[in-house]
Amino acid sequence: MIPVTKPFLPAEKEFKSYIKSIWQRQWLTNNGPLVNTLELKLKEYLGINHLLFVSNGTVALQLAIKALNLSGEIITTPFSFVATTSSIVWQGCKPVFVDIDPESFNIDPYKIEDAITPKTTAILATHVYGNPCAIDTIQQIADKYNLKVIYDAAHCFGTRYKNRSIFEYGDISTTSFHSTKLFHTIEGGAVFTKDPDLLKKMALMRNFGYSGVDTFSEQGINAKNCEFHAAMGLCNLNHVNDILKMRKYLSEQYLNRLVNMDVKFQKIENNEDYNYAYFPILFKNESLMHQAKANLELAQIYSRRYFYPSLAKLPYVENVEMPVCELVASRILCLPLYHTLTVSDLDMICRLLLRGQNFEKNKAPEIRCTNKLEPLQSISRIRSKIVKVNGSH
Ligand SMILES: Cc1ncc(COP(=O)(O)O)c(C=O)c1O
Repeated sequence: MIPVTKPFLPAEKEFKSYIKSIWQRQWLTNNGPLVNTLELKLKEYLGINHLLFVSNGTVALQLAIKALNLSGEIITTPFSFVATTSSIVWQGCKPVFVDIDPESFNIDPYKIEDAITPKTTAILATHVYGNPCAIDTIQQIADKYNLKVIYDAAHCFGTRYKNRSIFEYGDISTTSFHSTKLFHTIEGGAVFTKDPDLLKKMALMRNFGYSGVDTFSEQGINAKNCEFHAAMGLCNLNHVNDILKMRKYLSEQYLNRLVNMDVKFQKIENNEDYNYAYFPILFKNESLMHQAKANLELAQIYSRRYFYPSLAKLPYVENVEMPVCELVASRILCLPLYHTLTVSDLDMICRLLLRGQNFEKNKAPEIRCTNKLEPLQSISRIRSKIVKVNGSH
């Protein structure tokens, strides 16, 4: 069986050494030493000054909206994980959807201004699959209309933009360290801001609003994380460079093999600093996607419709048509991608996809010899070719 993803697990021995230290200290949660060490090491690794480790990526979004005191309407993307929209609604605000760009799959910055009303207070956009949004354009719009910007950077560990961690952008960025993410703490997440006052406010909010033993200076929630999750993060941080390298290598292998397949790939703007968090392919129509998914499942290979459905169709929001998002959400499939995926398994996945496509076209199956690895092509060269070949659907 080949799952769509597998969590990275460090050697048991490595994790146990941290667990032993927890037993010795008997300090399980409430701002313990491992949580503090993880925060320091993450800052060092990411090259940033401010972050807070929290219980998950959903609470991170809720904290961000609350800390910025947002109300009214928040402009957002319909192509994201459900938590992006549900957090807005949870905080008593109204999500106003703006359709996505068909190449990057991120919110279309040129459609944002039309959605702004006197009630708009912020833009909450997702860097989809780790691919940076049009950050500069979004910031210009936010400055012009005096709006706050939150980035849901749940997929972005390791992505950099203009030589800085992607987490540095926006008034607040949030991320998820869930087990499915390339860097994880089992459950977990973080909030990032360059504003020290905002950071302080979120630090208080994360811990019930406690500002002293018996004093509460903010309305708070329990968004803390614990020593066990921090221990997993500290172990995984030692391996994250290898994980990133492996995902890049596997993504290049996919691209080399699928470059002539009649599908479209996400356009990555700055791929030198991209993290290869997912490997999505966009089919020409929904039925081809279903067929490919079913063919893979016959061989016990599991891909995922991610993201599906469009968030503008959720039962608790005002439903609106988002044509580009609906087209992408209905045809997209994320292929298996994880650090231990073998090239022979990847070969098999690609052969099945190509064979399915050729079967569709009533052609004899074209199976490429894949025992020998082909020389790596530069991922940017391949991607520009893909955009040319498949640019129109
Ligand atoms: C884009 C996006 N936002 C938010 C979340 C929520 O993160 P968590 O599962 O840590 O609550 C996820 C998790 O998959 C996600 O992919």
